[in-house]
Amino acid sequence: MRIIRAKDYEEMSIKAATVISSQKTLFPDSVLGLATGSTMEGTYQILSEWYEQGWIDYSELKSVNLDEYVGLSADHSQSYHYYMKKHLFSKINIDEKNTNLPNGMASDPEAECRHYDEIIEGYGRIDLQLLGLGPNGHIGFNEPADEFPSLTHCVYLTEETIKANSRFFDDINEVPRNALTMGIKSIMQANKVLLCVNGAHKADALKSVLTGPITPQVPGSILQLHSDLIVVADEEALSKM
Ligand code: GLP
Repeated sequence: MRIIRAKDYEEMSIKAATVISSQKTLFPDSVLGLATGSTMEGTYQILSEWYEQGWIDYSELKSVNLDEYVGLSADHSQSYHYYMKKHLFSKINIDEKNTNLPNGMASDPEAECRHYDEIIEGYGRIDLQLLGLGPNGHIGFNEPADEFPSLTHCVYLTEETIKANSRFFDDINEVPRNALTMGIKSIMQANKVLLCVNGAHKADALKSVLTGPITPQVPGSILQLHSDLIVVADEEALSKM
């Protein structure tokens, strides 16, 4: 595990974007596992700026996102489809047919999960998986549980996550109660994992993830077993380490 310390959110975003653009430069047809949330917004902004300046070409890039809310359509302003389009896909030259997110509107969520795993298997690998961290230690939408879920699955979001994510919605009752998420096995099989964390409110979770027991009650703790984990975190998030 390598921990890259950043002064603040801006520096974390620059360092994360540097790791991603290096991957892209070395291996233009990389498969990137993408994440959403406020953590990643700065990183995507910087990657978009570097594209505008002509430094990165995304034409061969393939992407698989971690998760999506159940019941939100792609044009809903809080869906992760919408987020990705707004913060990254509309700003770079990625080919839309090479981008993938679970379909939260699928009439058969179980079938959609199997379909999503087939997409991941079809690529044969995820070269670099980006991750944010939930305040309860979740990665993707893999919530604290009795066991580590391996493949893409449908989850009930915990009250803590619903509350944390309600800041993006007008009313907490509008936050979907379910989501589809890539499983832990798919995340762990990525060749390289980039975990980005900022803010004092994530300090306890980050400490548990990196130094606590490996347990499905803290889903991110499994990352301690990954052979190529890069953590980019700001001073506040690292303040309990
Ligand atoms: C959300 C998403 C995760 C994200 C995490 C952190 O619920 N499902 O993929 O990484 O929680 O979100 P934020 O960056 O907004 O704190």
